[in-house]
Amino acid sequence: MKILVTGGAGFIGSHTLVELNAAGHETVVIDNLSNSNRKSLERVAELTGKEIPFYEVDIRDREGLNRVMEAHHFDACIHFAGFKAVGESVEKPWEYYENNISGTLTLLDVMRQHGCKNIIFSSSSTVYGNPAIIPISEECPKGHCTNPYGQTKSMLEEIMMDMQKADKEWNIVLLRYFNPIGAHPSGRIGEYPNGIPNNLMPYVTQVAVGKRTELGVFGNDYPTHDGTGVRDYIHVVDLARGHVAALKAIERKCGIAIYNLGTGQGYSVLDVVTTFEKVNGIKIPYSIKPRRAGDIATCYSDPSKAEKELGWKAQYGLEEMCRDSWNWQKNNPEGY
Ligand code: NAD
Ligand code: WQD
Repeated sequence: MKILVTGGAGFIGSHTLVELNAAGHETVVIDNLSNSNRKSLERVAELTGKEIPFYEVDIRDREGLNRVMEAHHFDACIHFAGFKAVGESVEKPWEYYENNISGTLTLLDVMRQHGCKNIIFSSSSTVYGNPAIIPISEECPKGHCTNPYGQTKSMLEEIMMDMQKADKEWNIVLLRYFNPIGAHPSGRIGEYPNGIPNNLMPYVTQVAVGKRTELGVFGNDYPTHDGTGVRDYIHVVDLARGHVAALKAIERKCGIAIYNLGTGQGYSVLDVVTTFEKVNGIKIPYSIKPRRAGDIATCYSDPSKAEKELGWKAQYGLEEMCRDSWNWQKNNPEGY
């Protein structure tokens, strides 16, 4: 298939480009580089042996999108572009709603005008809020999102479901990612957040490389096996392959389809720290800090629907996630 990948220069997008090309798909990227670097695309070209056409276009730029869609006929779009920092979204709600919601509305409109009504959307486990049932299946009701970022994901899911109800030609796959970490095993592409990392694994790797002195563990009094928060970490290469598998749903004209992409395994903050230390032979100093506002105790998926319907299942475990996160960080201490 020929796929438009929005946000393809970013962390998950760049890994997905590698897997899409390995599976024989043709890809074109648009990204405004607001949270990425075009070097990631050079590395993708190096890994795939293919030049990936790239347009520096903002998804809010209708004319820019029109130009790309006039130059190419796409079978589907995989839509990663958006802002994703939870804390920043609380500080800048307007910017998050405008970029994520207006941007996606413009993209969807230009797509339908060009007769492309197939989309895979990056949603998040955050839409479940404080989940009513663990492990979380797709049947679990959506919950209250405590931040504007999460609201944008939840609202966009609703918008796309309404559009599909009104126009059955749309095929829309909503992928709810759990906690993506790791990097391509080559160490050539990975995640490099701007400023102080909000997420656990980038913080751990920055402590390991000496950029930060110690990890703050946000709370050790949760009702979990060691008191620290439990999450469903998933290797980004597995997540990327989940997008290749999701194209099957598009091919069989799924209408609306929702899948969790996780491993189904929950690990605590201290499990991550001790596994990272063991696999990489590096000590991670840490101290216990108060709970972080908005955090929940436990969140992990039931990923069986994706296995049953798409034949997709995560292959990598926490050890490989820790190994590959560190391999990327140590070879690219300043990112790209
Ligand atoms: P990322 O920031 O690395 O990638 C997003 C890309 O989109 C960046 O390259 C950025 O420059 C681009 N972008 C942002 N706004 C744009 C715009 N208006 N026009 C064009 N390009 C734009 O983030 P990521 O971790 O790769 O996440 C990809 C998607 O997956 C996002 O939608 C994110 O919300 C979602 N998601 C991420 C996680 C996670 O933990 N990383 C979890 C669940 C969902
Ligand atoms: C994981 C665990 C923290 C940092 C976020 C978004 C979610 C999704 C994935 C996009 C928690 C603890 C963290 C640190 C710590 N993103 N922690 N010290 O919060 O599960 O999910 O990223 O859609 O929407 O909310 O991920 O990596 O921030 O935290 O102790 O310095 O690590 O409290 O228990 P989270 P995270």
